[in-house]
Amino acid sequence: MRFISYGHQSIDDDDIQSVIEVLKSDWLTTGPTVDQFEQELARYVGARQAVAVNSGTSALDIAVQALDLPKGSEIITTPFTFAATSNAILYNGHVPVFADIDSTTRNIHPDEIRRKINSKTRAIIYVDYAGHPCAIDEIREIAREHDLQLIEDACHALGASYNGRQIGTFADMTIFSFHPVKPITTGEGGAVVTDDPELAARLKLLRSHGIDRNVGDMFGEGSQWAYDMVDLGRNYRMTDIQAALGVSQLKKIDTFIKRRNDLAAVYEEMIGDLPWLETPQCYGDITHGWHLYTVLLKGIKRNDLYRHLHQNNIGANVHYIPIYWFTYYRKHFQIDPQAFPVTEDVFDRIITLPLHPAMTERDLEYISGTLKKAGSTL
Ligand SMILES: Cc1ncc(COP(=O)(O)O)c(C=O)c1O
Repeated sequence: MRFISYGHQSIDDDDIQSVIEVLKSDWLTTGPTVDQFEQELARYVGARQAVAVNSGTSALDIAVQALDLPKGSEIITTPFTFAATSNAILYNGHVPVFADIDSTTRNIHPDEIRRKINSKTRAIIYVDYAGHPCAIDEIREIAREHDLQLIEDACHALGASYNGRQIGTFADMTIFSFHPVKPITTGEGGAVVTDDPELAARLKLLRSHGIDRNVGDMFGEGSQWAYDMVDLGRNYRMTDIQAALGVSQLKKIDTFIKRRNDLAAVYEEMIGDLPWLETPQCYGDITHGWHLYTVLLKGIKRNDLYRHLHQNNIGANVHYIPIYWFTYYRKHFQIDPQAFPVTEDVFDRIITLPLHPAMTERDLEYISGTLKKAGSTL
């Protein structure tokens, strides 16, 4: 059996062709294909504007910057995410405050958010873990009550929906990633989508050095070469090469999500009744994005199973090491892991099984068979 990785891009000839066309064009960056990708992404999620950048991490960074909060503000987020989520808080001189998760969805728990709010709290960044939308109604209610800004880290959740509405317009800003394992890919890439035109304009400045070309007659005599740097931005621009791949991939997002849902249902049929693991489920009126398929083990050691699966060419993984365990965070923050009993329990027992649209039913049979054998030997 070939190695089956936990996630993988699905690229076809149309994707390749659209990239070739851009390579032959005049615009490799800051060109019309980036605009096209932004418009199509915004239309797909039902938002007014999208701002494409070179990674999900960059998107999070400028989204936090665009909130314009006083330095040292507290932003509540989940510890059970990729480091980029809370790093964006640190890049901007703010303080990440972690709130424990819900054991079923592994998403931030609204009650835990409430417990962490104080006079310094200014925003919440919630993550739709694995593609399962958070308890968004409750989180929006908390934000309304306490006048907090909301960023939805939907890096796992493009194509997912909540109460019949696409993920993309629930928070002040929603973040997507187009890394190869994500719902669609641009190689590296990301985007912020928002309904607020002022935020979108600020995000566009911040992704490109904070430079504004509409400066009027700043240097006299109608100087056409003039530009001003009005904010401290970065170069986080997406290229047209990446955007061309994005435009082509976006056409297939619904097919990808359907395939991921079908494969998750096959997993449920094949391993749903194993007594030593809990398969992931959907809660509420949602469409799951199934970016990750994670199971919780009962009575089998995760590291033993991980090793066994890799010995059999199955690229199991662990999502995630809670952020507060990282050396950098331990050095700078005194966070007691025991204050996060659910995160700790889930982290001890969780393992990610491969799931991506290019997998076949035979791959799933092989993985299920290997799991069943593991159950009787480990
Ligand atoms: C939840 C989450 N947020 C942010 C990111 C960062 O995205 P990128 O890899 O595009 O920088 C990731 C990527 O893995 C992620 O999983």
